[in-house]
Amino acid sequence: MTDDVAARAADQVAAGPSHPWWQEAVFYQIYPRSFADGDGDGVGDLPGLRSRLGYLADLGVDALWLSPFYRSPMADFGYDVSDYCDVDPLFGTLEDFDRLVEEVHAAGLRIIIDWVPNHTSSAHPWFVDARSGRTSAHRTWYVWRDPAPGGGPPNNWRAAFDPAAPAWTFDEASGQWYLHLFEPSQPDLDWDEPAVREAMADVLRFWLDRGVDGFRADVVHCIGKDPALPDNPPEVESLPHCVVNDVPVTHQRIRELRALLDTYPGDRMMVGEVYLLSAAQVATYYGDGNELHLAFNFSPLYALWQADTWRQQVEEVDRELVPRGAWPTWVLSNHDNRRHRTRYDVGASWAGEDDATRERRSERRARAAAVLLLGLRGTPFLYQGEELGLTDIDVPEARRVDPGGRDGCRAPLPWDATPDHGWPVTGGGKPWLPLPADATERNAASQQDDAGSILHLYRRLLAARHGSPALRHGDQRLLDMPGGVLGFARTAGTDRRVVLVNFTDDDHDIDPTALSGTTMAWRVDVASDAEGEGRPWRGRLAPDQAVVLSPAGI
Ligand code: GLC
Repeated sequence: MTDDVAARAADQVAAGPSHPWWQEAVFYQIYPRSFADGDGDGVGDLPGLRSRLGYLADLGVDALWLSPFYRSPMADFGYDVSDYCDVDPLFGTLEDFDRLVEEVHAAGLRIIIDWVPNHTSSAHPWFVDARSGRTSAHRTWYVWRDPAPGGGPPNNWRAAFDPAAPAWTFDEASGQWYLHLFEPSQPDLDWDEPAVREAMADVLRFWLDRGVDGFRADVVHCIGKDPALPDNPPEVESLPHCVVNDVPVTHQRIRELRALLDTYPGDRMMVGEVYLLSAAQVATYYGDGNELHLAFNFSPLYALWQADTWRQQVEEVDRELVPRGAWPTWVLSNHDNRRHRTRYDVGASWAGEDDATRERRSERRARAAAVLLLGLRGTPFLYQGEELGLTDIDVPEARRVDPGGRDGCRAPLPWDATPDHGWPVTGGGKPWLPLPADATERNAASQQDDAGSILHLYRRLLAARHGSPALRHGDQRLLDMPGGVLGFARTAGTDRRVVLVNFTDDDHDIDPTALSGTTMAWRVDVASDAEGEGRPWRGRLAPDQAVVLSPAGI
C-alpha cells in the first residue's frame, strides 16, 4: 500500500461508512406560487426563485424540493398536470428551469421536483382523447367502468377534499364512469396499461436528462389499484380512498421506477408521498432497498405538542423503519396542512391569556420544534416559511381558492418590511393570496438582521448538523427523562450529541447522568432561545426550551 492510499483509507475509517446525500441532506420545500415573484403578476415563479437562491444557501439547507411548475389549468394549483414536459408560462420557461438547475448546483445544492404520476389534468391531451370515445387510442390509459347494476358509480370509493363525493364521474357521451381519487378534473391514470408506464418513464427521463437530482412522487402509493376495484370495507368507507389504497402491485411499479433511476449516474433519488398513516405501512414502500429511497411518514405531522406523543412517534419509527434499513423522514409542515406553529397553538391552558403571552409561547414552541426536527435521526423536510416561524393566515372567504381548503398555509413568503413585502404587483393588483398579517414584523429581511430570530436559530441548527456526523447520520437512543421532556442521544463513532426538548410550561432539572450514564459534562451547542450557547450546560431546561448538547471539552 502506498502512503497515499494508506492515508486515504485511514481518512475513510475516521469518517465512518459513507452515507448517500439524501440521508444526510436537509430538504427545503418550495411552493413556487408563494415563494418569490419575478415578474410582478402576484404569483411566484422560477425567475423569482432564482433571485432568492442566496437566501437558501445562507440558511444552510442542502436540497430543494420544488412543488409542481408544469403546464396546468391550476384546478389543484399544479397537481393537475396538462403537460409533464413543459413549464407553465405562469412560472417561466424551460430555459428558466435549466438555469435554475445550473444555479442550484453551482450553489452546492441539489434539486428534486414534484412528479404527479397518479393522475393527470382532465385537460391533458391524453384524457381529452380518452374521453372522446370508447375506442379512442388513450381510452385504456385511464380507469373507465360501466355503471354498477343499479346505475350508480362502480364502487363506494370516495374522493379527497369532499368526503361526500364519489371518486367517480359519469361521462354521459360514452356511458361510463371514470375514476378520480381527487377532483373530477384529476382523472386517475391506469398504471396497468403498459403505454402509461412507458410514457411516465419518458417523463422521468426528460427531467433526469435535464439534471434534476430526483423526484418527490405525489401520492405514489396510489398508482397501483386492486384490479377488481372492490368496495372499501365499512370501517373505512367514509375515508377518501387515497388514504387506504395499499396493494402489492404498487411495489412492483415502484421497483421499476427505482431501476430506471438507478441507470442514471449521480445518486438520483425518489421520495414518495405515501399517505398511509402508519409507519409499518410506510416502511414497506422502501422495499428491500429497491423501492423508494425515502418515504414521507405523516403521522408526526398530526402529532400534538406532547412529549409522550412524540416519544411514541419516535419509537414507532425506530421499531418499524430502522430495523429494515429504511431511513426515516421527518416533516412538521407542508403545503397540504396547517403549519405546525398554528397546530401547536391550541390548548385549554391558553384560555384567558393575552395575545402577547400567547404569541411568546407559540414562538417558543416553534423554536423547540425546530430543534426536535433537526435533531432526530432521519431526513428532515422544511416547508418554506417555517424558518421564519410563520403561522397560517386567515383567508377572507372572497379570496379562498383551494378546493381542499389549504390556502392558510400557502401565503406568499414575506421578504421584507416594505408595504408589499417583496411582492410588488404590476398595476396595483394583489398577490394570489394575502400575505401574513404580521409580515411587517415577521419577514426574511428583519430576521436576517436579528441574531435572536428564529431564522438564525434554523441557521445555527443547520450548521450544527453540518458539523456533526452524529446529527447527520448517527444512531439514536431515547433517554429516560422526566415527564414532559423528550431526550435522545445521537452517536456516530466518537461524535456524540444529546437533544433535549421540554414540551411543558415548567422548568425541568435534568440529572446529567441520565444523558450518558456517567457524570461527564456537557456543553450547549444550540439552544432554542440561544441561552448559554457555547457554554457548559447547567442541567436546567426552561419552559418549551430545547437544546443540542455536545460533550464538554471537545
Ligand atoms: C398530494 C399533494 C396535494 C395534491 C394531491 C393531489 O397530496 O401534496 O397538494 O392536492 O396530492 O395531487
